[in-house]
Amino acid sequence: MRVLVTGDRGYIGAVMVPFLRDAGHVVDGLDTGLYEGCDLLGGPEPIGDRKPRDMRDVTAKELEGYDAVVCLAALSNDPLGNLDKEATYSVNLRGTLNVAQAAKDAGVERFLFASSCSLYGAAGSEAVGEDAEMFPVTAYGETKALAEQELAKLADDNFSPTYLRNATAYGASKRLRLDIVVNNLTAIALTTGQVRLESDGTPWRPLVHIEDISRAFAEVLESPRDLIHDEAFNVGRSEDVVQVRDIAEMVREVVPNSTLSIADGAGPDLRNYKVDFSKLNNTFPGLKLEWTVRKGVEEMYAAYQQHGLTYDDFTSAQFVRLRRIEQLLGAGLVDSQLVRQTEDQFPGPLADIYKKGN
Ligand SMILES: NC(=O)c1ccc[n+]([C@@H]2O[C@H](COP(=O)([O-])OP(=O)(O)OC[C@H]3O[C@@H](n4cnc5c(N)ncnc54)[C@H](O)[C@@H]3O)[C@@H](O)[C@H]2O)c1
Repeated sequence: MRVLVTGDRGYIGAVMVPFLRDAGHVVDGLDTGLYEGCDLLGGPEPIGDRKPRDMRDVTAKELEGYDAVVCLAALSNDPLGNLDKEATYSVNLRGTLNVAQAAKDAGVERFLFASSCSLYGAAGSEAVGEDAEMFPVTAYGETKALAEQELAKLADDNFSPTYLRNATAYGASKRLRLDIVVNNLTAIALTTGQVRLESDGTPWRPLVHIEDISRAFAEVLESPRDLIHDEAFNVGRSEDVVQVRDIAEMVREVVPNSTLSIADGAGPDLRNYKVDFSKLNNTFPGLKLEWTVRKGVEEMYAAYQQHGLTYDDFTSAQFVRLRRIEQLLGAGLVDSQLVRQTEDQFPGPLADIYKKGN
């Protein structure tokens, strides 16, 4: 298939694009390039002379000839939503709907939306299936829930949106993120010797490796339309719905000489949910998600060591999305709605900031 991936220059995109190409698809990318230069181990494939492109401005003409659009582009986490709720709505809701409408107008038949299990929010103690009510507790979760509802209105005989509600991702990517729990705890353990929990460790988190997310997207791309048309799927493994303290324990076991600590005054976290993945398994019996959290921690520990990750890296804008956005805002390179103020790919205009050590 000819596939356009929006947000291809981010954490998941850096793994998904080569994965889809290896599966035989012809893949192009579209990205506003917020994280160019935020590289682990040399970064993803060079950007070349590609121009940054904002999905909020994409037109149908640009999408002609594609069989599918995979929409990863987003302000991808809760703290970014706290920074400016309106910006998260602008990108995640209006941007997604713009690119979906453009895709539909261009005759693109499939639209795979990177949704999130965080739309279940404070879901209670039962494992939630796709029919469960949504109780998002952040602007990020709200935009994912609303985008799904609006995308469903575009579904018709010629346009099939699918909502892949990913669990919290982990795994080594050349566009690393350290602001997600498994990656974060492994990095802290390596650089400080402590597996430090900021919450009391009781919340439940469903987890999934980024290569397994890519595998699920490839499966949806290649499946018959009646299986995926206007359908939501939780993406993850039931074995990997774990409590944060279990993750911490795994990290402690993998990172030599590390000890477990809980921050003073740590309380429970509102984002607490168990997820049921049986629909994914039953709909796609041939789909096998291969990674375990423990194997992922080992992978990341090795990648961090190879990169020479230090505590300074850990606190820099390079790997923490919120810090990077604050850096771009501070330098006037994006406006409050994260619209770029320059056509130059980063880090060009950021070179000075980088010299100052982020
Ligand atoms: N990483 C996770 O744990 C996780 C879990 C569930 C769902 N998701 C979803 O998966 C998708 C990818 O997540 P990620 O972790 O790779 O995020 P990321 O922040 O690493 O990457 C997002 C990419 O989108 C691009 N982007 C942002 N605004 C854009 C715009 N207006 N136009 C074009 N490109 C834009 C960024 O430049 C970046 O390259 C997101 O939609 C996210 O919500 C991620």
